[in-house]
Amino acid sequence: MREQAPAKVNLHLHVTGRRADGYHLLDSLAVFGPAADTVSVDGAGRVSLEVGGAFAGGLAAEPDNLVLRAARALAEAVGIRPWGGLRLEKLLPIASGIGGGSADAAAALRLLNRAWGLKLSTARLREIALQLGADVPVCIESRPARMGGIGEMITPAPKLPAIALLLVNPGEALATPSVFRAREGDFSAPANLPEAWPSAAAMAEDLRRCDNDLEAAATCLCPPIAAVLAAIGAQRGCLLMRMSGSGATCFGLFSRVEDAQAAASAMPAAWWSSAGPLYEAPV
Ligand code: C5P
Repeated sequence: MREQAPAKVNLHLHVTGRRADGYHLLDSLAVFGPAADTVSVDGAGRVSLEVGGAFAGGLAAEPDNLVLRAARALAEAVGIRPWGGLRLEKLLPIASGIGGGSADAAAALRLLNRAWGLKLSTARLREIALQLGADVPVCIESRPARMGGIGEMITPAPKLPAIALLLVNPGEALATPSVFRAREGDFSAPANLPEAWPSAAAMAEDLRRCDNDLEAAATCLCPPIAAVLAAIGAQRGCLLMRMSGSGATCFGLFSRVEDAQAAASAMPAAWWSSAGPLYEAPV
């Protein structure tokens, strides 16, 4: 059994306030794709985790991967002992603003919900997901969604036109707490978005009026972000470029998949990139 763990891309991210516990209140339109990790399970022995894939090395020093924490949290929630040989294929860059760890945790919850025959509802999985991180609940369904609260309040996204995304990461990890700490300036209002967009151009026009409120702070901590954004924006057919999450991955929004793919092949080889349509979550 296997589950995809697609990248989460924040098309805008407004920091609207701060809670007493230090967590920030957000407003964001999140979409998924075009790259993904995968999580699979095989065998019925004691729960274990093996990590492979291009970015596996970045997790080697981590004692307690989010996939294992997800397995334990799920087992505890239903009162069983966790089991199964889990494998994570780590193809998304680590600490890069596209929710890779969150997507992995959510994929593990979906996977083990099936493998252990639990039949928990999406709502229950989201509750367990929130214990693992603010971004994990939205990754349970991996469908376009509006995020509020600290990320856990999930409401429907506007109806989206066909779009393609280019993701580019300059190869420097950025820790989310340090980016939030470095943020300066006032809080923003939530974005005013329509119920549907008739075209990618109309979508980009509205999103250009929004922001990623963490982009300036992240660029101070990781100056190559400015070069990544300039390189994306110079590509033919790019309707909008912006940083995702707390960075350093940036995205370009395109109407045509071919343009996004051509743009990816024009990026410097030292950068990670991926291009394609949005992820289609299975029904
Ligand atoms: O919830 P998660 O573990 O992904 O968050 C990592 C860190 O990012 C938090 O400890 C907090 O410093 C910061 N954060 C925040 N506001 C959010 C989400 C994360 O300040 N809404």
